[in-house]
Amino acid sequence: MQKLKIMSVVGARPNFMKIAPFAHAIAAHNARVSGECRASGGECSPSTDNLNQKVLIQHFLVHTGQHYDKAMSESFFESLDIPHPDVDLGIGSGSHAEQVGRTMIEFEKVLLAQKPDWVVVVGDVNATAACSITAKKCHVKVAHIEAGLRSFDQKMPEEINRMVTDSISDLLLTPDEFANANLRREGHSEDQIKFVGNIMIDTLEANRGKAAGLALDQIINDNLIESGVGCREASGSSDSPCSMPHALCSNGFAVLTMHRPSNVDHKEVLVPLVRLLIDEVSAELPLVWSVHPRTKKNLQNFGLWDEIVQSKNIILINPIGYHEMLKLNMTARLMLTDSGGLQEESCVLGTPCITMRETTERPVTLVEHGGVSELTGSDPVKIRKAFKKFLNFDRKGHCPPLWDGKTAERIVERILEA
Ligand code: UD1
Repeated sequence: MQKLKIMSVVGARPNFMKIAPFAHAIAAHNARVSGECRASGGECSPSTDNLNQKVLIQHFLVHTGQHYDKAMSESFFESLDIPHPDVDLGIGSGSHAEQVGRTMIEFEKVLLAQKPDWVVVVGDVNATAACSITAKKCHVKVAHIEAGLRSFDQKMPEEINRMVTDSISDLLLTPDEFANANLRREGHSEDQIKFVGNIMIDTLEANRGKAAGLALDQIINDNLIESGVGCREASGSSDSPCSMPHALCSNGFAVLTMHRPSNVDHKEVLVPLVRLLIDEVSAELPLVWSVHPRTKKNLQNFGLWDEIVQSKNIILINPIGYHEMLKLNMTARLMLTDSGGLQEESCVLGTPCITMRETTERPVTLVEHGGVSELTGSDPVKIRKAFKKFLNFDRKGHCPPLWDGKTAERIVERILEA
């Protein structure tokens, strides 16, 4: 029986929902191969003509530890049934150079000890670039899941991570035709580019049912920040922990997430944004805001936190789990976000999405390409306009080609063929 050792890497929250279906597809492949073995009387040379079915995959999972809070990391391993990482590098927070440098130093040791055939990286976080560079320098082949995305904005750290990773990857596993075109334009060969679809949607399709069954009020009550001061005031009740969710159910609500440095790191950007959210957006539609640690820190540093907490139509919640966010997204009248993953999920679910970014590496989600997302940057004028327009939008999902829940299977096949 042939064996192939694949080392995959996760570092930060958006990686976890991409690695879950990959790990499950490897397990399913191995179960098929072992089943063939048993069927042929324990002879581990399966009869199939398909060479892929004769290879057992040994999967070794590395967590770099860039995200380390339970709510930002561990809860996803539990809820998405991701195997426990074989190694946690414990990198933690720091500047980009610190995170990338520490990751390379620690990852090299694991790589040299484990000697995998492939390193598989996902997305565009610091772990993606750090581990792909380290692997190539150790002459280990690299496969990049979600290759070819380009925002064409090199001020985004993720754009640098994407460009560096794609430039040295042996296998470029792409989510959409825009990504294929970007890679062709950059001179990558057709042999390297494999159009497999969007792995995030595998996770969405596998977890839709569970998310739909969650209770909205419980999600909010279990994750409220500051004991739901805003909730009590809005509902006019002081004895219930939060009766706001009933208002949310009847009148609808918007969901907000933001964490990009371009939106949250500068006071002159964040102050007008918060004013718009308090004075106009939430006055029209209650706002459920899941606050990223970076954003919370900056809101506190810029003296904005207390006013938001007191704001009667804003419900502040801690970072929530995958199913909880999926339920909010399925139920919300609209999404305001600077997250790439939520843009994609809103596209499939049909939730009108105000994308608070100047550019996107995911143009397939935009209204002009059949999706539900509109770019506004952090400009209050553009956000106000999109908000008014989207308030009366009908929910209409859009599934680009190969966003079909079977991407991880295709990825395993492409790696085995390479
Ligand atoms: C990272 C990714 C970004 C992704 C985002 C999702 C890069 C370059 N950026 O950005 O692409 O969209 O994750 O969340 O890799 N912190 C905690 N607990 C944690 C993790 C972080 O409190 O578990 C705080 C720390 O104060 C840290 C700050 O959040 O300094 C930012 O975290 P960091 O990992 O530097 O980047 P993100 O902004 O999360």
